[in-house]
Amino acid sequence: MPAGRTVVIAGPNDPGLAKPISEKLGAQLVTVQEKIFPDGELYVRISEPDTVRNSCAILVNTLYPEQNKSWIETLFLTNALRNTGASMVIVVIPYLAYSRQDKVFLEGEPVSISVMLKALRNGGADCLLTIDVHNPLSLKEFNGCAINIMVSDVLAKKAAEYTESPIVLAPDKGALERAKIAAEAIGAEYDYLIKKRDRVTGEVSVEPKELSVEGKDVIIIDDIISTGGTIALAAKKSLESGAKSVILAASHSLLVDNAMDKIKSSGAKKLVTANTLNKKFTESIIEVVDVSNKIVDVIKTII
Ligand code: R5P
Repeated sequence: MPAGRTVVIAGPNDPGLAKPISEKLGAQLVTVQEKIFPDGELYVRISEPDTVRNSCAILVNTLYPEQNKSWIETLFLTNALRNTGASMVIVVIPYLAYSRQDKVFLEGEPVSISVMLKALRNGGADCLLTIDVHNPLSLKEFNGCAINIMVSDVLAKKAAEYTESPIVLAPDKGALERAKIAAEAIGAEYDYLIKKRDRVTGEVSVEPKELSVEGKDVIIIDDIISTGGTIALAAKKSLESGAKSVILAASHSLLVDNAMDKIKSSGAKKLVTANTLNKKFTESIIEVVDVSNKIVDVIKTII
């Protein structure tokens, strides 16, 4: 679809990606106004509606922190762009909240990600770009152009700077594709971890399915770090099994509760993460990698 003029709209929960994306596209950066009414309802408005009319409008808003508020912002702004006369609306949601509820695990539950994607499409989004969604298959619920941008290669290249003899591990089988992309980017082997519990002693062991970590610099890569339990356990067990060092890599480091403490005490020496959240990382163990180039490359193929 030819788009003509392109504008980039920085949503209230922009993780700092709107500006580099606009600069790299040579597009005007547009801001939004937001306020909360006394009764708690949210109001948003595009600051310069005239610049949006007849343009290809790219809205950038992530969904963490404040998943519910930022989700409403995203829906309202999508609708506002459509009403203002944008010829094409591309919504960039670097972290797509609710992506882990992608099926009914227990009877009586919703498929939350399906509800969200349908609402976004019905709200007027032509195209959705997101980064390393938990389950890429869930994007079919958008029923339109929905693209999952993998950044495991970028994360792995940064992580590999701290290694001499790297191997890449996924914390579980579901994350194997992510590990494969990461490993191929740095020419390393990859595997996934299997968690077993001894039925007699109750002891939990976490081991790679095939590879040995002995003497290796292990890069453990996952999509989300929430409480830190999954990745910290994988790091700790890798070191106990003889790994020389462990570097963690994650697309979305939510780091809730005492996740940071768990990561530090796991023995991992670095956490490499992408700039997909509207969150400042101050810990020296964390290195943030800018993924705006990846997003821009995909936008160029669309417009
Ligand atoms: C699970 O399937 C995800 O890929 C992550 O491994 C998980 O969400 C991490 O959660 P936490 O940090 O709370 O262990």
